[in-house]
Amino acid sequence: MPQSTSRRRNEFIDGPIDSYCAAHSTGPDELQIDLQRVTREKTGEAAGMQVGDDQALLMEILVRAMGATRAIEIGTFTGFSALAIAKGLGPNGHLLCCDVNEEWTNIAREAWNDAGVSERIELRIGPALDTLRALPVGVQFDFAFIDADKPGYPNYYDEILPRLRPGGLVLLDNTLQGGRVIGAEKASEEVSAIRSLNDFIVNDARVRVVQLPLGDGLSCVQKL
Ligand SMILES: C[S@@+](CC[C@H](N)C(=O)[O-])C[C@H]1O[C@@H](n2cnc3c(N)ncnc32)[C@H](O)[C@@H]1O
Repeated sequence: MPQSTSRRRNEFIDGPIDSYCAAHSTGPDELQIDLQRVTREKTGEAAGMQVGDDQALLMEILVRAMGATRAIEIGTFTGFSALAIAKGLGPNGHLLCCDVNEEWTNIAREAWNDAGVSERIELRIGPALDTLRALPVGVQFDFAFIDADKPGYPNYYDEILPRLRPGGLVLLDNTLQGGRVIGAEKASEEVSAIRSLNDFIVNDARVRVVQLPLGDGLSCVQKL
């Protein structure tokens, strides 16, 4: 397995330390590197939405360590984070991916086929809130990853938490919003939504949460 050549997105970690961590972390495999390249070629600047190598690997490791078999992702794009989750789930796992964009998720479908994980991934195209509200109400997930439109996060969290098993994890991406969550000044709709959700989660008696300065901020929430 190659070591990472660092395709990381850590806005808050000192460069040399980040490079050192990259050099001492397992790197992406050939298919993951290929998906990063195809995403850059076909989506241009939007490729910046992909999670970093380290975050993808962290999710893969967590999912595998939990023995998770049922997962959901809100915000799939070209399938890079979903591929990592699916690898962690193993052959008997099921990952429900939610996105609105056919063009981007067609790239994802190809990559999942090439990686031999498409059997364990179900993609639903449409607003994620509609998809979530159409799901049965009972517990049905071990792991969830939220990485879509920021104003939607509070609703996604509300819908997912009751469907998560005790001990299960919800990871939320971009919870530092480039640092703009700090301070009380007037903020964009995105920043305001994430600020109030961060405040809500840390006081939510149903969970334990650790917010990591990885990428643009990654909140790892465990349901009690
Ligand atoms: C940041 S990207 C996801 C990146 C992906 N997790 C990865 O690492 O490659 C956000 C995605 O959310 C999708 N999205 C935006 N609004 C949405 C909504 N209301 N419902 C479902 N998906 C949505 C976009 O189409 C986009 O693909």
